[in-house]
Amino acid sequence: MDKKLQYVKKELLRREIPPVLLVLLLLAVLLLNFLLYMHLNNVSITTGQPDVDSSLCPFGYFRLGSLKNCSPWLSCEAINTEVRKLKCVGEGAVKKVFLSEWKENKVSLSQLANSELKEDFLHGLKMLKALQSKYVVRLLGYCEKQFTVLTQYHPLGSLKSLNEMLDLPRYKGLNTWHRRFMLAIDYVSIIHYLHNSPLGTLVMCDSNDLDKVLSQYLLTSDFHVLVNDLDALPLVNKSAGRLVKCGHRELQGEFVAPEQLWPYGEEVPFEDDLMPPYDEKTDIWKIPDVANFFLGHVEGSDIVRFHLFDIHAACKKKNPAERPSAQMVMDTYRKMLTLLFREAAMPGTREML
Ligand SMILES: Nc1ncnc2c1ncn2[C@@H]1O[C@H](COP(=O)(O)OP(=O)(O)O)[C@@H](O)[C@H]1O
Ligand SMILES: [Mg+2]
Repeated sequence: MDKKLQYVKKELLRREIPPVLLVLLLLAVLLLNFLLYMHLNNVSITTGQPDVDSSLCPFGYFRLGSLKNCSPWLSCEAINTEVRKLKCVGEGAVKKVFLSEWKENKVSLSQLANSELKEDFLHGLKMLKALQSKYVVRLLGYCEKQFTVLTQYHPLGSLKSLNEMLDLPRYKGLNTWHRRFMLAIDYVSIIHYLHNSPLGTLVMCDSNDLDKVLSQYLLTSDFHVLVNDLDALPLVNKSAGRLVKCGHRELQGEFVAPEQLWPYGEEVPFEDDLMPPYDEKTDIWKIPDVANFFLGHVEGSDIVRFHLFDIHAACKKKNPAERPSAQMVMDTYRKMLTLLFREAAMPGTREML
């Protein structure tokens, strides 16, 4: 009886939907998928495209807001005469940061805050110059002898205030799982860029707790992420046997990777020389915690978390060599975003294709 019923149903379907219509329907679904894919590529970080931002100028030049042409990086003299400090907007261990004005543009002037950290400041400047790209805050000028750096100002500040920003009435519409997921993809794309930079594999060392990590990145007005603080970015070269250590002090807690902890127990006092070095996989260990912060607690964010469970479990492998590369995490994130976005827009289509 059941078989007969199924046969009748199939026959009815076959008769009611002509094959041409079925093909057209399938084509429409494919087209919608393609359009969604294009849309996702536009709103999130582009896949497989060069790292260079098209609005960037040749090395040593910048373009800002309303300005049409590329201007050379401002020199000591130009900074001293043309830049006006307005107010302090941030302070870390190394720099004091001031919202400033240059030719009617808002800019950010960073000044060395602790004279013992001159080397870190200069390392940060060197990295900022070498890594100018769509992932890094735009450099507008610098004055090495006065320890000042001028960069583009981002009024939404660091990622530390992401949740407050998304709570503001004007940004409430952006407080969705997919926007938040896109920020996590931006973040992982930056880690991928640093691990595959023109200078080699760089480790984001200024990252011993979540707040510290968040303070090194800026939120742009169009809700993307840029890396800003490059003061602690040592170079790994595995084939030459070169590993790194993030600072010279003992690190503690669960946020840092296990290989960053003192391995010889409480009986042996910490000694920097005895502390084994490590590689860029410390950044991978931290990704799930940072991603969890991005995802927050909005409708749908737990579903994203669920879908990222396996890749995040892999990031938390005790053995750094078993953790995935930033490329693998980024690819998985992008795949999941496309899948979940499609599923949300057209429920049931995941099974159809
Ligand atoms: N270009 C900028 N636009 C807006 N805020 C900024 C900018 N640069 C830095 N800040 C703010 O200043 C803080 C400290 O800057 P950072 O470069 O991380 O200093 P430090 O090297 O001392 O840690 C950031 O967390 C951010 O809140
Ligand atoms: Mg900082």
